[in-house]
Amino acid sequence: MPTPLAGYTSYKGLPPLAGLCSLEEAARPGLSVEECVRRLKRFHYAFKRLHHILTARITAEPVYELKTAFAHHAHLCAEHATAIRTRVGELREPPLGLDDVPHPALEAFFDELLAAPTTEELLVGLYRAAMPAIDAAMERYTRDTHPLTDAPTLRVLRFALMEAADMIWFGGMGINQLVGEAGEERMGDWVGVLNRQLDLAGGLDGTSSVGPAVPDGLSSRPAQPDLQDIPRRYSKTPYVYDPIPKRDERFTDPWNQGVNAEAFLYSEAYPPRAKALMMLYKRLREIDVPEMMASIISQTPGKPWGYYRDMSRQVWDEARHAMMGEVGFVALGVDWTQAKVTFNWSYRLNTECTPLERHGVLYFIEQGLMPKTGKRYEWEVAKDSGLPLMATLQDFDWADEVLHSQIGRQWYVPEFGGLQKALDFGDAAWSKILSNWAAVKEQGLTSHANWWPAVYGQACAAAGAEPDVAVMAFSETYEGKRADLARIAGE
Ligand SMILES: [Fe+2]
Ligand SMILES: [Fe+2]
Repeated sequence: MPTPLAGYTSYKGLPPLAGLCSLEEAARPGLSVEECVRRLKRFHYAFKRLHHILTARITAEPVYELKTAFAHHAHLCAEHATAIRTRVGELREPPLGLDDVPHPALEAFFDELLAAPTTEELLVGLYRAAMPAIDAAMERYTRDTHPLTDAPTLRVLRFALMEAADMIWFGGMGINQLVGEAGEERMGDWVGVLNRQLDLAGGLDGTSSVGPAVPDGLSSRPAQPDLQDIPRRYSKTPYVYDPIPKRDERFTDPWNQGVNAEAFLYSEAYPPRAKALMMLYKRLREIDVPEMMASIISQTPGKPWGYYRDMSRQVWDEARHAMMGEVGFVALGVDWTQAKVTFNWSYRLNTECTPLERHGVLYFIEQGLMPKTGKRYEWEVAKDSGLPLMATLQDFDWADEVLHSQIGRQWYVPEFGGLQKALDFGDAAWSKILSNWAAVKEQGLTSHANWWPAVYGQACAAAGAEPDVAVMAFSETYEGKRADLARIAGE
């Protein structure tokens, strides 16, 4: 018997329903608003926890490619958590309950990931267990919900699914290269714990028949295993954030403060092309900003969600700035490992300052860039260098910096009730970090070797250019200086 739909046609064969789906698809019932909100709250929880876990691991993750990817993925997770929060707020839901734990087994699952003791286990937990689980749950949602009534959610999840696939791809590559099949097999017991925790939660979205164990009004469910039956492995004791920055073996001599990049860049004695090379060093050295900012985020609980979202955007930008440096060096035929990328700044701020002091130092540096020595100047030098790539890099570095200044104005300055007080606090916190230039030398941690001639020499050789004698001879260090060229207090 033909259905009523069979006789229905749109005007002149145009796609019906604004192109969302067919009439047949839209004529079927979908999920209730209540069920949509219930699942979306779980997706939100998962993205929020992933954001936190990825951020917490940036500082102490030695591998640069993972450090930068964690910054990227933390930002993506924060963005999707934000979009889902907004959508939940549109579904007759007062903005309550978004900070609740949807199921204790889900909480235990993410606690285990956060506490994963090695990079290898972290990768497997994140990219083999958590990300595929949220990906599958979002896929299920898009199949189950009504394509017309819930179109706004589908749009949000479409984007989230694309980026979840990107993250799973990257993580899979990481596992292939760094863990391997044998390594994954050795983690079988722990992965078993993770899977049982997810099962107990009814899957990531709570739709599987096993769960949820928490009373949900359906008293006919079979007896549930208890969370006590799944002993935690790594999260028995609460996770403690590791503030010590670590680098992989390509980053040698991490205490080296032997080349004062700002003194070179702001001097009138040197040509733009050589300055561009020094700017690439400054960009690559910015890997210490995610290392430091991750500590602020990880050690500053209880802020409104917007704080974490915005700060994570900045962490990702700073990781991109470091990668801009990497790209520039490679494009100029320079082995960047010859430039000594110190972690002195992130190490000392993370271990000697409070989170608010660290934020103050960051804000002071970003705000205190005078026009003469600021981002516009760097962009102009980049344009004058004759290297079009440099202009692209510095153009966007400048744009990002303007955004960061706004983020600081929104989340840092109000702590002090005024711009000047906020700047003074940051300046004082930075001055508190007395120069350790002599100390690290005396301790034998570095000789502050001047790496500049080797890097400059390589760039000249790759370009087939004769080195400039004055540029080659540059040998000013950071002895007694901060990177804004201020004398360090007491020096
Ligand atoms: Fe930056
Ligand atoms: Fe910045």
